[in-house]
Amino acid sequence: MSIFDQTIKRRFTNSVKWDAMKMVYGLNDASEILPMWVADMDFAAPTAVSKALQEHAERTVFGYSFMSEEAIQSIVDWQNTRHDWQIDKDSIVFCNGVVAALANSIVAFTNPGDKVLISTPVYPPFFNIPKSNGREVVSCPLVEKNDGKFIVDFEAFEQALAQNVKAYILCNPHNPGGYVWDEATLKEIVRLCAQYDVLIISDEIHADLMINGEKHIPIAKIAGDEINRIVTCMAPTKTFNLAGIQVSYMIVPDKKKRLQLEAVNMASGQGSLNTFASVALQAAYTEGTPWLDELLPYISANMDYVKAELEQIPGIRIIKPQSTYLIWIDYRELKLEEKDIMKRLLEIGQLALEPGTKYGEEGRGFLRMNVACSFETVRDGVERFKKAFEQ
Ligand SMILES: Cc1ncc(COP(=O)(O)O)c(C=O)c1O
Repeated sequence: MSIFDQTIKRRFTNSVKWDAMKMVYGLNDASEILPMWVADMDFAAPTAVSKALQEHAERTVFGYSFMSEEAIQSIVDWQNTRHDWQIDKDSIVFCNGVVAALANSIVAFTNPGDKVLISTPVYPPFFNIPKSNGREVVSCPLVEKNDGKFIVDFEAFEQALAQNVKAYILCNPHNPGGYVWDEATLKEIVRLCAQYDVLIISDEIHADLMINGEKHIPIAKIAGDEINRIVTCMAPTKTFNLAGIQVSYMIVPDKKKRLQLEAVNMASGQGSLNTFASVALQAAYTEGTPWLDELLPYISANMDYVKAELEQIPGIRIIKPQSTYLIWIDYRELKLEEKDIMKRLLEIGQLALEPGTKYGEEGRGFLRMNVACSFETVRDGVERFKKAFEQ
């Protein structure tokens, strides 16, 4: 019996995943729908984190606070032990979430009207954030290899960079698809971005969720002399299921860029952090390793189960993700319209998955399924999926 076998009731807790489906999917009633969509886990966070938060709550005063020296050191140590990456603690800039970090980076380092490059399909804020800040999004689709894996098409990537792009937002590892970029790919991205003088904003929020012993490579770690063109956005929130705490940090080796980011923070009144952020981050990074080491094989087994079961449906194909807890399900061979498959899943299966086009047009023919839940829930999800295809 694993700690992750426990089922925790989340309905009626103001959970986006469990309680916002009615609005998100336009339903009259979502009370029987199983949510396997937005990226948070149904697991209890590590006990050490809950304990640290409880102790902090018992102090009963929640005034303005800042990140403790111990919390900052825990980031340095985490990067060192987990990713063999030595960072300088002075290079860290804090923020309220990784999406906010992306937005602040766009505002700080590009101007309205500038072009921002992304590799699609990709996490929706990658196109929404630059667009809503008045930047132009240039999309360079990933291309499919024979084995079904998606890779960067460097010819197209270079052509895109040559259109006077100012920044590239990298998703490392990639969501959706869970691709772990290898060193050669990352080095080529750095080389080309240097050639066209493009800033790299690297979202590495999924870095710690490596499946089957895969190794995450922070792009800044292999950037050599180009390190100053990289802003890395990270957080313990995806790793330890603390998304609602909303804490993130950017690793910004270039001092001038740090000052620019701090100026954007101040200008938008974001100078302060949630008082629970420091304690949660520190407890997760200093005491969360055993929990994480138990989590990863559990997720991997859930993925194996889903793949084995769903691939029994003719026309469904799954490439097991190398990272994250999100399965990218390929149903292109079924030749079904997205709205029809979503209708079947929601109405017959009573199952909420993410439609692929949420990640860009290149996601058409795919669904994203979140398997960060107990095996019992995964089994339920699989049954619901199959039921949707019985007729
Ligand atoms: C690639 C990526 N970046 C950022 C986020 C969200 O970050 P935050 O909740 O810290 O804003 C997610 C959540 O799914 C994600 O997948």
